[in-house]
Amino acid sequence: MSDVLNINITDEQKRFYQENGFLSIARITTDEEIEWLKTIYGKLFEGRTGEEKGFFYDLARPRGHEGRDELPQVLGPDITIPELRESIYYKNAKRLSSQLLAVDEKINVGGHMIYKPAKYGAETPWHQDEAYWNPEVFSNGLSVWMPLDSVTTESGCMQFIPGSHKENVRWHRHINDDPLIHGLMTDDVDSTEAIACPLHPGGATFHHTRTLHYTAPNTTDNPRRAYILVCSGPEKKRDKPAYRPWQDEEREAMKAAEIDVEYL
Ligand code: NI
Repeated sequence: MSDVLNINITDEQKRFYQENGFLSIARITTDEEIEWLKTIYGKLFEGRTGEEKGFFYDLARPRGHEGRDELPQVLGPDITIPELRESIYYKNAKRLSSQLLAVDEKINVGGHMIYKPAKYGAETPWHQDEAYWNPEVFSNGLSVWMPLDSVTTESGCMQFIPGSHKENVRWHRHINDDPLIHGLMTDDVDSTEAIACPLHPGGATFHHTRTLHYTAPNTTDNPRRAYILVCSGPEKKRDKPAYRPWQDEEREAMKAAEIDVEYL
């Protein structure tokens, strides 16, 4: 198992990623670390950690909604628990991302966790991560997605549209066309082209900022706990911002509803 400390991206894996915009690997951390992460995960979600600051919310329902969450998310778990930055997962994600991005310089790492409890909750609709990101720069990053549970199509493993990273950011809209719902979706996708990536706990997928991806609602008896690290190299400023009006719509709706969060 100590081999997991020394994994590297092979040339073949790099070629696959460049061609398809995603990559799946069987191991990025140890079973022991997964067990440790499950205890942290439980505490963060049960405690709704950082909810008042906007670090815990439901991706699929309006801010401040009543009732059970359908797609709860914790942002920046390593801000609350800095030990996460010392984890094998974190270190491997950072190193392997620098290999995939061909960036030797400092890699910036951000993180979030998305929880799909057993037999409950929403899909994560088709989207490109870059639709959420800063329109003033050319993004130079990828997301590493690691499940703490075995994942299948039925429990919400990652699904990707191969090659979609070579195209532009598509038109996105907020789920239910409600700008108080943070989750974005695009209708501009042919889901028959999707490739599903089932994984065992401690495996991981990598995907480019523009790769279209989706996860189904969890209809199984097991939870689907995912810990995602977003790894970015230096970004280049655009001459003029990319057109992503869904971001302005959300900011305006939040302001009108007098919802004030540190992070949007
Ligand atoms: Ni995403």
